[in-house]
Amino acid sequence: MAVAGSAVGLGNFLRFPGLVADPETGGGAFLVAYFVSLLLVGLPVCWVEWTLGRFGGSRGFNSSPGIFHALLGRPWGKYLGLLGFVVPVGVYFYYVVIESWCLGYAWHSFAGNLDLADPKAFAGFFAGFTGQGEDGHLLLGGGALAFFAAVFVLNFAIIYRGISGGIELVCKWGMPLLILLALILLGRVLTLGAPDPSRPELSVWNGLGHMWNPKAIATGLSNPAVWLKAASQVFFTLSVGFGVIITYASYLKPKDDVVLSGLTSSSANEFCEVALGGLITVPAAYAFLGASAVAGGTFALGFNVLPQVFAQMPMGHFFGGCFFLLLFIAAITSSLSMLQPGIAFLEEGLGLDRPRSVALLGLITAVGCTLVLWFSKDLKALATVDFWIGDIGIFLQGTLLIYVFNLGLGVERGWQQAHLGAEMRIPGIFRPILRWVTPAYLTAIFAMFLLTNLAGWNLSLASPAFAPTGPVLDLVGSADAPASPVARLAFLFLLTFLAFSALLIHLAGRRWSRRPS
Ligand code: PHE
Repeated sequence: MAVAGSAVGLGNFLRFPGLVADPETGGGAFLVAYFVSLLLVGLPVCWVEWTLGRFGGSRGFNSSPGIFHALLGRPWGKYLGLLGFVVPVGVYFYYVVIESWCLGYAWHSFAGNLDLADPKAFAGFFAGFTGQGEDGHLLLGGGALAFFAAVFVLNFAIIYRGISGGIELVCKWGMPLLILLALILLGRVLTLGAPDPSRPELSVWNGLGHMWNPKAIATGLSNPAVWLKAASQVFFTLSVGFGVIITYASYLKPKDDVVLSGLTSSSANEFCEVALGGLITVPAAYAFLGASAVAGGTFALGFNVLPQVFAQMPMGHFFGGCFFLLLFIAAITSSLSMLQPGIAFLEEGLGLDRPRSVALLGLITAVGCTLVLWFSKDLKALATVDFWIGDIGIFLQGTLLIYVFNLGLGVERGWQQAHLGAEMRIPGIFRPILRWVTPAYLTAIFAMFLLTNLAGWNLSLASPAFAPTGPVLDLVGSADAPASPVARLAFLFLLTFLAFSALLIHLAGRRWSRRPS
């Protein structure tokens, strides 16, 4: 339940619908690439992470650096766990900010403050609430600050209570509540029909068709960006490749099942993503506002378009409030899971007790969140951290996991390890997949990313697929737009954080080398 709580998050109810509705890389082709990635990458790396985690736990380690140290038995092994500490903490820097928007929007929906006159007013509310107009505005007391402070403190208060008294308790109650809320909303959306009788073509069913009908599959699948986005989304949504599952699984007993648990938590996530997230947001927005409204990107869809939809429904305050409460619950069970790998590392690596580890991680994340909150203009800092940590970092960490599994443990030994105490067997076809297909697939996608960027600069290929990625251009500048100082600063900050974390791992290594293993 805790892993499912980590997996089900904003990725399911905001990111996924936003990606599917994207006019350039969305639609049926995206869904094909998504399900292929789920089978060839998501599930295999998920099993790998559960297996490595339980293995590390049996050697007395709970964090990625510790587990890799125990597994590889080499001085450099622990440094391979660097991303398993940096990525979850780095994602937390902005994830918790979005989480606080959700709480704020739930509050304002239930209170009836989102009854705004026209679409511009909604967009204005969202921009003001999140400080998109100018830097510094939010921290000086604007829109979302109080909600942010409350959510930040709440996360650490729960983490402080530990695994069973904190994380498990919140997930045990939060997950069923979340599914109940989603089912209420799903019932509401699927019975909307065509809300405006004078425009019968704007119906829920056409909204579903807009999203799911197979159109332009072949052109879509020949675009590398579609594959990149699909694979990143699979990692993001399953919480695979973050260093989160490896830490959670390290608390299992040696004979606790990991095969069925990995499959169950992933299935729960896919149900929430495809069946709930996929059927609520886009069809509702389409039925009220039409195709152009659903194409504006993830945040616009969730915080700008949907409030307009709820405003037009009977009892819209209630349904709107339920939707944002749902988002908030989904988000907090995920953000908690981003803190635990950090806490585990600080405790076992530096020998800190709970109050000290919570205080130190609180300080680190407070600095990161301040950066995201302060540089709120156009959400530039948020987008920069999201790209370098949430896309590239996860990708690298996921790839690393599969290589460590293959080379450190070996597929045969890993296969045996995975099946200790297992309630079901992994189908044999996954042996060659783990050994060859997953590493090759991930390496190929990353090579494609590099090529896309390098080719975009040097060869200026005409195909739109070969254009440097936006966040890369932000760093280096282009003929049309100079580099963004905020993006550069955020990138520098991430590098500093990386170096600082490497130093901590170095100190941890000294401690571990003194400890009998
Ligand atoms: N899986 C979560 C989501 O879909 C995000 C997440 C990322 C959770 C990293 C934990 C760790 O929103």
